[in-house]
Amino acid sequence: MKVRKNLFPPSVFAIYLGILLFMSGIHTGLLVFMNKAGWSELAQTIVPMVYWGIVAVGLTLFTRGKIRCTYEEPLHRMAEATRKVSEGDFSVYVPTIHTADKLDYLDVMIMDFNKMVEELGSIETLKTDFVSNVSHEMKTPVAVIKNYAQLLQTGKASEAQEKEYAKGIEDAASKLSSLISNILRLNKLEHQKITSEAEAYDVCRQLCESVFLFEEAMEEKEIALEADIEDKAMIEADADLMELVWNNLLSNAVKFTKRGGAITIRQTSDEHHVRVSVSDTGCGIAKESMNHIFEKFYQGDTSHATEGNGLGLALVKRVLELMDGEIQITSEEGEGSTFLVTLPAAQTGD
Ligand SMILES: Nc1ncnc2c1ncn2[C@@H]1O[C@H](COP(=O)(O)OP(=O)(O)O)[C@@H](O)[C@H]1O
Ligand SMILES: [Mg+2]
Repeated sequence: MKVRKNLFPPSVFAIYLGILLFMSGIHTGLLVFMNKAGWSELAQTIVPMVYWGIVAVGLTLFTRGKIRCTYEEPLHRMAEATRKVSEGDFSVYVPTIHTADKLDYLDVMIMDFNKMVEELGSIETLKTDFVSNVSHEMKTPVAVIKNYAQLLQTGKASEAQEKEYAKGIEDAASKLSSLISNILRLNKLEHQKITSEAEAYDVCRQLCESVFLFEEAMEEKEIALEADIEDKAMIEADADLMELVWNNLLSNAVKFTKRGGAITIRQTSDEHHVRVSVSDTGCGIAKESMNHIFEKFYQGDTSHATEGNGLGLALVKRVLELMDGEIQITSEEGEGSTFLVTLPAAQTGD
């Protein structure tokens, strides 16, 4: 942005010169007139003094008016806007004083102020969105628990029904608990700048352990698993957080793949990077969802909305940011998806 920095504005100089020439012209005329008219010496001294006094008053008023237009009024508008913002109104906008080609530092300040208010406003919406999302996600399991508890209280349920209701309560409670721990985790990760727990460890072993966790779920859905994992690959990262990444990617793969589908895990490494891809033959991701799947609470496919809460990939993304890693997605709707994670390899001493 170009800010006008004019140390000697010619237009102002011309105005002042014009005024002063005019005034001193009148002064000289006055002296000639008084001389000719034979006024007393006292009068000849006092009249010019009064005259210049009037000129000084005029100049003072002129300068005062100028200051009011250039500084006081815009500052007053800014003060008014600041007050509104402090009361929580983020819709304020203060217009700049000059046009874009004649901006001064006050204009720049006003523009930055407008930008700041806009940013504050969007943070505020994010916050309210977050609160309403959390409340929405909590409502369903709480309602389920309430219903089952009421049914249990009637005392009319058979033993089998009682078991079913108790199971319902347990499921809803674990959904709530996973929601809360995900929110807490995400909150902690968002405020964390660097990871202090990074250590060099074998990611292959961790991958095998994660796959093992999902074996039962895959068998149940008759999903074929292909794993192409090296014997050993060292990365430097926080192992607990990386476990979240693999578990979330695998749980999504299992969740979004139909019965009889297939999941492939491939891991490769070179001197600098370790790459892990998780592919599935599931429903795939629509193009318009692609940009949103890493957002908190975003769930593309609502038919699965009862499972999960849309926080999984937000966590994955944040963890990878902290680990200097990357994630790429390739997906074809109806065909399947591949999530490719790239991590820096641990620098071995030898
Ligand atoms: N493997 C996958 N196949 C198809 N869609 C996926 C896959 N993984 C993630 N998605 C899409 O991304 C969304 C967000 O995923 P995630 O944050 O893990 O939330 P959740 O699993 O709770 O729905 C999902 O709702 C889904 O629409
Ligand atoms: Mg998920």
